[in-house]
Amino acid sequence: MAIERTLAMIKPDAVEKNAIGGIIKMMEDSGLKVVVAKMRRLTPKQAEGFYGVHRERPFFSDLCGFMTSGPIMALVLEGEDAIATYRGLMGPTDSAKAPKDTIRGVYGSSIERNAVHGSDATDTAAFEISYHFSEAELNGLLA
Ligand code: CDP
Ligand code: MG
Repeated sequence: MAIERTLAMIKPDAVEKNAIGGIIKMMEDSGLKVVVAKMRRLTPKQAEGFYGVHRERPFFSDLCGFMTSGPIMALVLEGEDAIATYRGLMGPTDSAKAPKDTIRGVYGSSIERNAVHGSDATDTAAFEISYHFSEAELNGLLA
């Protein structure tokens, strides 16, 4: 195992229900460290670009509508095996099937409104981290 970084988003449904603190607590309690984080409101183009791999899927348009419906929090998490660790902590995509000790099991409400995003591999993590954060932000160089 190695120290990895992964990209997490707290989605608009979870921000709306004041779950940011609860979700970050679950992240930290599982040993993941928050490297950098920020609130942002995605534009339609930014949501479409982030989820570009899903462009042909039937849920794509609804997903982009959901992800632009309110602010999100983007975070870079770091830790041992962070990508797989955080995927496990999130639980399966469908909140209804997510165990109660996972973030989606606690805070998700459907297959779409599932509270959080997490990168699924090292290449997607690198792409998704750079999608949300500049090198200066990642290096803590901004005042
Ligand atoms: O987020 P995750 O990697 O678990 O799932 P995904 O297959 O990469 O799908 C991305 C996002 O699209 C999900 O997190 C859901 O918000 C949404 N989705 C949906 O609305 N309906 C589906 N049948 C599958 C995914
Ligand atoms: Mg995915």
